[in-house]
Amino acid sequence: MIQAGVRALRRGAGLLWLARARSQPSTGAGALDACPLAISGLSVSYGEKPAIFSVDVEFPSGSLIAIVGPNGAGKSTLLKAALGIIPKLSGRVEVFGKSIDDARGNVAYVPQRASVDWDFPARVIDVVMMGLYRTMALFALFGSAERQRAMACLERVGMADFADRQIGQLSGGQQQRVFLARALAQDADLYLLDEPLAGVDAATERAIMDVLKGLREEGRTVVCVHHDLATVRDYFDQIVFVNVRKIASGPVEDVFTDENLQKTYGGRLAATHIDKLRVAAE
Ligand SMILES: Nc1ncnc2c1ncn2[C@@H]1O[C@H](COP(=O)(O)OP(=O)(O)O)[C@@H](O)[C@H]1O
Ligand SMILES: [Mg+2]
Repeated sequence: MIQAGVRALRRGAGLLWLARARSQPSTGAGALDACPLAISGLSVSYGEKPAIFSVDVEFPSGSLIAIVGPNGAGKSTLLKAALGIIPKLSGRVEVFGKSIDDARGNVAYVPQRASVDWDFPARVIDVVMMGLYRTMALFALFGSAERQRAMACLERVGMADFADRQIGQLSGGQQQRVFLARALAQDADLYLLDEPLAGVDAATERAIMDVLKGLREEGRTVVCVHHDLATVRDYFDQIVFVNVRKIASGPVEDVFTDENLQKTYGGRLAATHIDKLRVAAE
């Protein structure tokens, strides 16, 4: 009963976040010289035990960055606390040199798919249009120009043919593409995606990675929680290892090491697994 109430409140907080995201103006170009996301001393706790503890990390501009760590390591918590969706115990978050409240209009967030209620009645095109306007609350008022823009975002993720379908009727991978299209419609400079490749088929994985690499080519910063260690070298420039604390961060070629994998995953990642990853990367 209490849990259901907490869940409902949390969903409410997520919707509020989306509503506020639409009402914020875009960050001015000058502010983009600042670090897209700088976190210092960030701690979050849901109860007695911290979910993340004293995390310092800076996400460099124009890069594709993976956040990796075992289940329950606090990866989703890190993103949500950075976005102000959940309260922090302590620490500081700056987005393009501003507070998250002042920079919200320039940040697009795709939550972990499992955390979204997919039964809500909305057409694909409406879900994408929700990302379109920071100033308009009623997408009923949207005209054909807005529809065209939303369609272009759906096109970019290969989902234009599904525009009038109900979101709940789509497969997991298709839903993931639609949420990426909504993020594209926000035209942000910082993208935070929580496991965008989890449970998607190979074609969807390629399509999503093409879009994310395209965003990087445009100079945007893309941060993904990522679960597949075998693709880290192929997909990402930078990596952040998290297990409650930040274990290491930096360019993949410097930081994606056996030592950091061991420190992050401990006994959960057998040495043979690490060897396999090394061979795959050579
Ligand atoms: N809403 C919540 N209430 C209580 N505990 C939570 C909540 N969300 C996450 N946790 C706990 O916090 C820890 C980190 O969770 P999470 O950030 O989801 O990890 P990850 O995304 O790395 O799997 C886990 O132990 C998880 O059980
Ligand atoms: Mg998670």
